Amino acid sequence: MYRQIRSNRSPRAVRVLPVVQGGRPISLAIPSLDQAVAHGLRQTPFRGEMGETRLIDGRIILAGLGPAEQVNVATWRRAAAAVLRCAFSNRLSALRWIDPAAVSDRLSAPDAAAVIAAAVNLANFDFSDFRSKVAAVRQDPPLDLDLAIDGDKKITDALRDSLLVGKSVDIARRLAATPPNVANPAYMARFCRDLARKTTGLRCSIIDQAKARQLKMGGLLAVGSGGSTPPVMIVLEYQGRASSPAQRSNQKSKIKNQKSPPILLVGKAVTFDTGGYSLKPGGGKTMKYDKCGGCAVIAAMVAAAQLKLPQRLVALVPCVENMIDSASYRVDDIVTFINGVTCEVTNTDAEGRLILADALAYGSKRYQPRIVVDLATLTGGITVALGPFCAGLFANDDKLADQFINAGQSSGDRLWRMPLWNELRDMMKGSHADLINASEKRWAHSGQGAGFLSYFVGENAPSQMPTLPWAHLDIAAVANTESDSVELAKGPTGFGVRLLIDWLRANA
Ligand code: BES
Ligand code: MN
Ligand code: ZN
Repeated sequence: MYRQIRSNRSPRAVRVLPVVQGGRPISLAIPSLDQAVAHGLRQTPFRGEMGETRLIDGRIILAGLGPAEQVNVATWRRAAAAVLRCAFSNRLSALRWIDPAAVSDRLSAPDAAAVIAAAVNLANFDFSDFRSKVAAVRQDPPLDLDLAIDGDKKITDALRDSLLVGKSVDIARRLAATPPNVANPAYMARFCRDLARKTTGLRCSIIDQAKARQLKMGGLLAVGSGGSTPPVMIVLEYQGRASSPAQRSNQKSKIKNQKSPPILLVGKAVTFDTGGYSLKPGGGKTMKYDKCGGCAVIAAMVAAAQLKLPQRLVALVPCVENMIDSASYRVDDIVTFINGVTCEVTNTDAEGRLILADALAYGSKRYQPRIVVDLATLTGGITVALGPFCAGLFANDDKLADQFINAGQSSGDRLWRMPLWNELRDMMKGSHADLINASEKRWAHSGQGAGFLSYFVGENAPSQMPTLPWAHLDIAAVANTESDSVELAKGPTGFGVRLLIDWLRANA
């Protein structure tokens, strides 16, 4: 894997030449390269099938795009990932793609450039923070990759922006991969403070355990009570750039912009989920990725600030370690959330919704958001329902749902909409307390989670299904992958970062 991908031009870059199925590579207008391609093709024909690659003469990579009439975002993505693999296995350190418009106009060239950069980033993931320098086990030092795409300024801008988002995806992935003995709630808080200090426009504050007690965040406190470090709620804020240059220079509208209702992003960050006293069966499974919703939200805030997106954003990341300890919460405990709603704990492994409840209720009241979006590795049930191909989208608003489905297509962080019915809310009603956190019924586990969260969103909560536009993304199946594929390096995926940024950019 490459350590870093930069948008540099390098004179010795290997040319990347996409080819549609059955088509001929276009001329590079450099006789020696064109001859090398012609010679290479005479030796072995290149069919141009999607994902097919060939390195010729150490100077040109042919990349198959598949049938010309089917070229789309997914094709470019696949081709770019395949090129990355080909480049890395040949230890190449600089690539220069020809202008995508010269090959296909089925996608705008800047969009194609953005997708290429995104795919190259996604297929590449190096996490060497915990590799030692001990000679006997040391690996080859990773290379950096220079990535260039020919074309006008729109293309170079798209490439640069996409690599910038890619860096944020990698922030999410590195944080997600950081092991639970290091990335505990205290570390997460420190990490975000440092990140905000380094990122212009991003502010961070921490609601620590003492403050959470004052605020009566009973869910966060209960789940976090057995952790190796106390629970925290991380708050990140980005004011948003005033939308037009005229507005930017106008002081009044600047103030208005600061006070405009923000978009609230909430991300579950359980740094390790043992299940608590409802211990996970089988044990010993990876659970450091239970913080991936939070990691995605944190990283998206960085990208939003760096891209100077227009929207005002507030992110809340409730952060706990779900452990077993004499101080841990138990089954049968009754907790009271910040909005006064009570819940009988029927399963300490349904902990995500308990910490999200406080975040959603606190955020709804404190910031009066205009839209709420939460990302959480909430249920194993979503994997059963949808497999590892997409995340589950629960939304109370069709317009918002459509926006997310579209952003899922463009970003590659795919979504499938799930129902959000009142029956699911009813399943979460309690007898000794207002709610239970898990029903004995074994059906619709993911929907139960969404139904539970709906009691904490917006002004009219908990009395009815919220009317404030809200999207809940259950990312349990897509937060990490168990093996390498062409398109995705094994490990954390950073799912949600590109999705959120594409959604914000498309709906500014
Ligand atoms: N973090 C898990 C969900 C999960 C499971 C994520 C596997 C990734 C892989 C969550 O806290 C959980 O344990 N959910 C329970 C809910 C149930 C007890 C109602 C589940 O899905 O089994
Ligand atoms: Mn759990
Ligand atoms: Zn969990």
